[in-house]
Amino acid sequence: MTGDDPALRAAYRLCRRRTKGQDPAEYALIQLVPAALRPALHALWAAANALDDLGDDRTAPAAERAARVEAWITALHRELPTGSSPDPVRHALVDTANRWRLDLTELRDAMAQVQDDTRGRHFADWAEWRAWGRDNLLPWFGQVRTVFDRAGVPVALRLDTREAYEEFLDGVRLTDILTDLSADLAQGDLLLPAEALDLHSGAAADLARRRWSPAVGALVTHLTGLARQWVAQEALTRGMHPGPATVLDTMAALLHAQLDAVDAAGPALLRSPPRPALRTRARILAPARARAALAWRLTPLTVPPPQHPGAHRPPAPAPPAPADTFLRPPPHPSGERPPGIPPGDLPAHVAVIMDGNGRWARQRGLPRHEGHRAGADAVREVVHGALDIGLRHLTLYTFSTENWNRDPEEVDAILGLLRRELAENPFRDLDVRLRWHGRAGRLPPDLVDVLHLRERTTRARTGLTVTMCIDYGGRDELTRTAAALAGRARAGRLEPGLITEGDFARHLPLADLPDVDLLWRTGGEQRVSNFLPWHTAYAELHFTPGLWPDTDRRDLWQAITAYTGRQRHHGATPADGPSAVPCPTAPAGGPGG
Ligand code: FPP
Repeated sequence: MTGDDPALRAAYRLCRRRTKGQDPAEYALIQLVPAALRPALHALWAAANALDDLGDDRTAPAAERAARVEAWITALHRELPTGSSPDPVRHALVDTANRWRLDLTELRDAMAQVQDDTRGRHFADWAEWRAWGRDNLLPWFGQVRTVFDRAGVPVALRLDTREAYEEFLDGVRLTDILTDLSADLAQGDLLLPAEALDLHSGAAADLARRRWSPAVGALVTHLTGLARQWVAQEALTRGMHPGPATVLDTMAALLHAQLDAVDAAGPALLRSPPRPALRTRARILAPARARAALAWRLTPLTVPPPQHPGAHRPPAPAPPAPADTFLRPPPHPSGERPPGIPPGDLPAHVAVIMDGNGRWARQRGLPRHEGHRAGADAVREVVHGALDIGLRHLTLYTFSTENWNRDPEEVDAILGLLRRELAENPFRDLDVRLRWHGRAGRLPPDLVDVLHLRERTTRARTGLTVTMCIDYGGRDELTRTAAALAGRARAGRLEPGLITEGDFARHLPLADLPDVDLLWRTGGEQRVSNFLPWHTAYAELHFTPGLWPDTDRRDLWQAITAYTGRQRHHGATPADGPSAVPCPTAPAGGPGG
């Protein structure tokens, strides 16, 4: 499978040996998949661990470790197009990426996280811990899922099992941390949230001194209990192809055995990593092997042939930008700069109904999907303009609950375009946080996957928040909010007669989306079309005749300039100046302003 390249064969062999030596359970799981897929999985596993090892190597100071991690990622970036590397693990990884058409940019944030981890970690609560673990593990598991996809065995996760999947991976991470407690403590690390440690008074101090105590014992019992709960996700594999389902079920059984070993270790847990007895593992693995052999026997696989360097060039993860530095957007081709509006006078939130794609295409004798494609270019341009002028929130009506009624070909074209835009990730190097607002149940799972990925990996960015409304409808949003409130009331946690506007706002599906200051619609129509009815209650409206694909950032600047000239008073007595009522979130009562 590696053609005639002896260096590549040796590289894959090394990855396999590393997996087997460093994590026999992982190796045993990979043995449950057909031989043609194993080298890719060994390469991914060995690469993830090589990076972790570089970040963890305490013989070097933190700055040196961070520099080594960065050098590793930069080298990968350089080597990917060549299909080769002097480092055997990277050699196998670039070959795997080329052969299976993996998009390694999705690993960029997970890799950068290894670099950040060299500075040490502290988690206040489970939410922080979970975000860290998911950022790291999910992208690597995502690559494994892509290999299965490309082989013709999609590991599709139903939307209702997404949370179960992420919680399962939390269980993997927690089991791993408990197993490696002795090694982490020896290095001065304790990768557990303060929220959990504080429940067992004195446990954190005892662990720091590597002293076993009743508090430490209680903490460990508490955590193994949690991990057991998280890895027991029976619904996860329901309906899945029996091959990957067997791998996941076996993984859960091995994790349970590992947690039993952690529980049984007692004080020895602080001296060395506990391992389940060989016969316990054999009891799990023997039937799993038989099940896996049966599951794969009837499945034809598509295995890509060896790649010649350059035949396919998937994007490499760009070397991580130094923390908190982002590129500026490219300037507008005319050289025009945004108007100098003081930040206090800018609208905080502009929402846009991007209308006119179809007419733009028709005017040119093109199919409608060409209008949407040109519309996507306009989106990039307007996001650049929003960054230029310093806007905080831009919300785009991208696909409405009513848009499903369009010709299925057009629906497919719009969803395909979104998928491609998100995969290409044009705002990767800009200070843009991406969010998604809409219903989960009807969109293709792979689109939802990439939306979640972009949300997760841009979560910490503080510049411009771009919220894409996809399968979004205002009445649907309000109905779901009412249902959430009804549920709380039925559970006795809310008194129906006392529900306030604030309670309603807190139960909206995207509760922290701020009120819209300026609602802008292109394409000449003057309607609000079921867009953000709660948030636009006091919005200024701006309608322009131009079609969306003809829009550029100067139109946004013009819309914002027009906004600054408006008198806003939200039903209060009009005052002087453009910012008479600076806070749009607190209506003063009375009939609307
Ligand atoms: C309305 O124009 C536009 C849409 C239904 C789709 C909006 C999608 C995009 C702008 C492209 C992708 C966006 C992103 C965020 C990458 P219309 O088709 O109703 O136009 P018409 O009124 O002229 O028929």
